[in-house]
Amino acid sequence: MAAQEAVRHPVFARLWSKAIGPALERAGVTEHRRRLLAGLSGEVVEVGAGNGLNFAHYPPEVTRVLAVEPEPDLRALAEEAAGAAPVPVEVVAGRAERVPAAEESFDAAVVCLTLCSVANQHAALTDLWRVLRPGGELRFFEHVQAESPRMRQVQRAVDATFWPLLAGGCHTGRDTRSAIEAAGFTITGLDAFPFPETRVPSPSASHILGTAVRGR
Ligand SMILES: C[S@@+](CC[C@H](N)C(=O)[O-])C[C@H]1O[C@@H](n2cnc3c(N)ncnc32)[C@H](O)[C@@H]1O
Repeated sequence: MAAQEAVRHPVFARLWSKAIGPALERAGVTEHRRRLLAGLSGEVVEVGAGNGLNFAHYPPEVTRVLAVEPEPDLRALAEEAAGAAPVPVEVVAGRAERVPAAEESFDAAVVCLTLCSVANQHAALTDLWRVLRPGGELRFFEHVQAESPRMRQVQRAVDATFWPLLAGGCHTGRDTRSAIEAAGFTITGLDAFPFPETRVPSPSASHILGTAVRGR
């Protein structure tokens, strides 16, 4: 991976692997990770794999996972997680905007809490479209733009100030559902829900989990 393509967020990497990731697991994110990956088979590419928290949940029908992660500290942890995965996982450096793979080479692509952080959502989604085989599935679990105008205002405010700086480039208010469709995918299933459910809602609580298909 060229130096300009690396994503370096060592503080966030530590926070994610030691605090935020485990806190989300305690809040029940594991169930959503399982739903995200249920029923997958064949060759899968996962972009923004982080420290590999999805790897344990790939079903045995998956024959290979190419896990792309640009942040070096998270990638090193993902390599460890790959060793314990129930299916073959190869961890590589790279960015979602330019997936290091040939066109039409995967049966499915997975994005999980990643499209909030990529520098260019449209480029990432069109490149996932490129590497999927015709009829291939995009599985997504992402936090997105809120329904309520008031919360959208909060999202715009935090996204323009401190949130991306503290959270490794994450943005709370992206309209990821529209971005998936704008990249040429057809959404075939979508569940929208708050997670985690807290008394005071977080700007990153509006989630979507679903499937989109690359046409022919
Ligand atoms: C919140 S973490 C989620 C990690 C993992 N997907 C999970 O569910 O545990 C966001 C991830 O997106 C990655 N990321 C940031 N920019 C990226 C890009 N342009 N391409 C691919 N991944 C990216 C980060 O390095 C980080 O691993």
